[in-house]
Amino acid sequence: MIDIIIKTHTRIGKGELLNIGEYIAESGYQKVGLVIDQAFRNDSYVHQLIEQLAAKFAIVTYYYDLPFEPDYESLDRVKYEFKDKDDNSSKVEIIVAIGGGSVIDFAKGISTLIHNHKPALSYKGFPKNIRPSIPVIAVPTTAGTASEVTFNAVFTDTGAGRKLGINTHNNFPILAVLDSNMTKNCPYAVALSSGLDALVHSFESYACKKHNYYTRMFAREAIKYLFANIEAALKDKESDEAREKMLFGAYLAGISLYNAGSGPAGALSYPMGVVCKVPHGIAGGFILPYLIEHNVNNGYLDYSDIAFYLGLDGNTPQELSQSLCKYIFHLYDRLDVWSFAKKYKVDVKDETLTEYINLLQGAFDQNPLSFTPADGIEILKKIF
Ligand SMILES: [Fe+2]
Repeated sequence: MIDIIIKTHTRIGKGELLNIGEYIAESGYQKVGLVIDQAFRNDSYVHQLIEQLAAKFAIVTYYYDLPFEPDYESLDRVKYEFKDKDDNSSKVEIIVAIGGGSVIDFAKGISTLIHNHKPALSYKGFPKNIRPSIPVIAVPTTAGTASEVTFNAVFTDTGAGRKLGINTHNNFPILAVLDSNMTKNCPYAVALSSGLDALVHSFESYACKKHNYYTRMFAREAIKYLFANIEAALKDKESDEAREKMLFGAYLAGISLYNAGSGPAGALSYPMGVVCKVPHGIAGGFILPYLIEHNVNNGYLDYSDIAFYLGLDGNTPQELSQSLCKYIFHLYDRLDVWSFAKKYKVDVKDETLTEYINLLQGAFDQNPLSFTPADGIEILKKIF
């Protein structure tokens, strides 16, 4: 049985940001919350939207300025911007999230807490029997996490030093707006980290045990768009088309990810993030080519389908899979990925790190071949 969920209305196009007000009006909402990445605090394009919304609706604006990735405590603090502290009545009916994955995740968390009044941590994991969230409109400003189309929202439990989340189908954004204007000023390091995140999503969901031919359609197509556009999107600020196609590739990868699953690269990004402060996207990105190499060297040849689809060299599944492996390592060289590895201190002897990695076997088991914490640590040694 194949069971696929895609719940998000999607609009793609340069300039679409400014049609959000019309969408909200047509949907009948009157009180609008905005969660905006602080990097857009002085952005004239975003201000045009805010002015449009302020003219039509009662608005509450919050600029997201957390230093790293969001935690549960911040949700509990910030939720009172959007609901009354005394009687829990809601100040907003819909939230527009403008930012990268952390910002959109944060907005999903807030939208959950509008009608669910316990501390955020009590909804950690995959909460059941919770009251509906208020709708979220998601405008990604990075092409990577695909939070605009997924139901996941990642939060760190700082007390336990673990990344968990509040993952409920209530989180599916009602509308995703992929507007290439929004990724134009994204710094290289952030755009790279995001693009690699999307590659991780597509490759891991393609290979993971729970894939099916429907999810592979999204994953394969995602890889095609990401590979074809990542260099232009990162290096040529004027290429609106490349940035739009990157947003689309990341979005497709996200659909594949939450409908199929992930794997060791995504899983290892969590300890690397919590213990070593490596951002999620580039952390998984560092692992990805070595994971593909590990799988190919151990006889996993399904990557040959992707290589064939991309027109890479090779006649046999073995040759095609190896071509794909080479292709991704070369791409990383062109994007200068490994110079970023030097920026982070990842000490494979650090016990906090290895203890966390030892907890990940369940996630590693989604890999099509055996993959153990020791394999993960071996890869980290190669990179750092
Ligand atoms: Fe990711």
